[in-house]
Amino acid sequence: MASLTQLPAWQALIQHKKQMRRFDMRTAFAEDAQRFAHFSLKVGDVLLDYSKNRISPETLRLLVSLARESGVEALRAAMFAGEAINVTEHRAALHTALRNPARPSLEVDGVNVMAQIRAVLDQMQRFTEAVHTGTWRGHTGQRITDIVNIGIGGSDLGPAMVCMALGPYAQPGVRVHFVSNIDPSHLATTLAQINPATSLFIIASKTFTTLETLANARSARQWLLAQLHDEAAVARHFVALSTNVQGVKAFGIDPANMFEFWDWVGGRYSLWSAIGLSIALAIGWKNFESLLAGAQAMDSHFAEAPLEQNMPVLTGLIGLWYHNFWRAETYAILPYDQRLVLLPAFLQQLDMESNGKGVTRDNRPVNYSTGPIVWGAAGTNGQHAFFELLHQGTRLIPADFLIAAENSTPLGDQHEWLIANCFAQTEALLVGKTKAVARAELIAQGMSRTQANALAPHKVFSGNRPSNTLLYRRLDPHTLGMLIALYEHKVFVQGAIWNINSFDQWGVELGKQLAPPIREALESGTITSPHDSSTTGLIQAITRPNI
Ligand code: F6P
Repeated sequence: MASLTQLPAWQALIQHKKQMRRFDMRTAFAEDAQRFAHFSLKVGDVLLDYSKNRISPETLRLLVSLARESGVEALRAAMFAGEAINVTEHRAALHTALRNPARPSLEVDGVNVMAQIRAVLDQMQRFTEAVHTGTWRGHTGQRITDIVNIGIGGSDLGPAMVCMALGPYAQPGVRVHFVSNIDPSHLATTLAQINPATSLFIIASKTFTTLETLANARSARQWLLAQLHDEAAVARHFVALSTNVQGVKAFGIDPANMFEFWDWVGGRYSLWSAIGLSIALAIGWKNFESLLAGAQAMDSHFAEAPLEQNMPVLTGLIGLWYHNFWRAETYAILPYDQRLVLLPAFLQQLDMESNGKGVTRDNRPVNYSTGPIVWGAAGTNGQHAFFELLHQGTRLIPADFLIAAENSTPLGDQHEWLIANCFAQTEALLVGKTKAVARAELIAQGMSRTQANALAPHKVFSGNRPSNTLLYRRLDPHTLGMLIALYEHKVFVQGAIWNINSFDQWGVELGKQLAPPIREALESGTITSPHDSSTTGLIQAITRPNI
């Protein structure tokens, strides 16, 4: 493929950006009474309003041309077909197959993966129902009341985010906990809340080699055995989710208690696989199926809708427009939904581990920026913390606002206030406030002209600041599945245009290689491997604190 920056659409977008430099969304809204209708799109219960963006019909035409010229459609077809699009690891990226169990067959390396997927789903369903009905009990015969998922990264963030989001669907009688950090305080705090006789540990690790997860799993097993005094208890209190049968066996978990998945499931795309067991245990099997079905509905839309009316394509293109042509380095995720409080952390891994890459799929350094920085927090909390910078700071920060029309736990008129705040913020970002208005307001409040002139500049909101709004009826499993798949595919579209491999993560390796010699030095007190003076100094501050 020609270099991205040489593509006609890229070149045209550079020129177009020059024309759009002074584009004012307020004028665009004034000139087109139908702007919302023209720039919004509904898929199932999810409405995307993308009208509050610095875009014109011409912008979208050029961006869609860029998607076409850079081969997004071909790569999308290859992903759904199970081709090895993860070129550096020679693997398919088939999370879409996991949520389409009705698909008759799909061959990867001569194996019908659909049969494998259905078999594991059946095993997960049987196990989930056995725990919920009390058929599966702990070693002493008591029912399971606490599930502890031990995993990190993709083996933690997705399930933890979904379990939090779908709290109102929680099965009675089971509580789900998540332990990820190797900091012993994470596991210790959880163990302090549970009873070994009624607890089930899910060791979730694609590779089953991850330091943090194995360390926590070993500590959890020791804790359990110290209290139940019988090695046989492990079989009733530990199950594993992994691609690595040998690793699971070596740890001492019976492969009969293992739920398998496969190397073509990326860690950050794995909540739909066996890694979702904690979700099924938290919300019940039917709701887990509904989550998968929601994602599948977004997959079908992504696969079939024309690029011009394709939600993941549009969100991906608009994000890329700001990142590459307006030099917006970050974007904010602002769920006005306390239950989505973990969404920013989940999307950080999804986006930044997928597209934080500097080499193309054909092994050349990129000469354009990739991988935006993702951050955010639940509204309205963010309003009282960092929104100052969104409204008055010097940076351009596009933001996604997410809000449900209905709350699953309504209290008085609080949900109406939540919605009002969400819409008011996107409106404020758009319309802003001029110095003249600020000054007039101050004078109307009784301030002298001199004082008003001095204070007014501080009360100016430049406005014309972009946002998307995702509005859905309620945060149920189906809708959540759609929203997650939307972001997965958005990230895919951007990675496809940047011609990078969104499915590997070599950038996490170096730190893992450097940790063991440091660990050794901390234990022995002797530094045997070469380090810079900073690292040496820090090690010595621990090993020889008095020097
Ligand atoms: O170190 C990063 C990473 O490899 C992620 O990509 C992954 O989700 C996480 O670690 C956990 O890996 P595993 O599931 O193999 O324990």
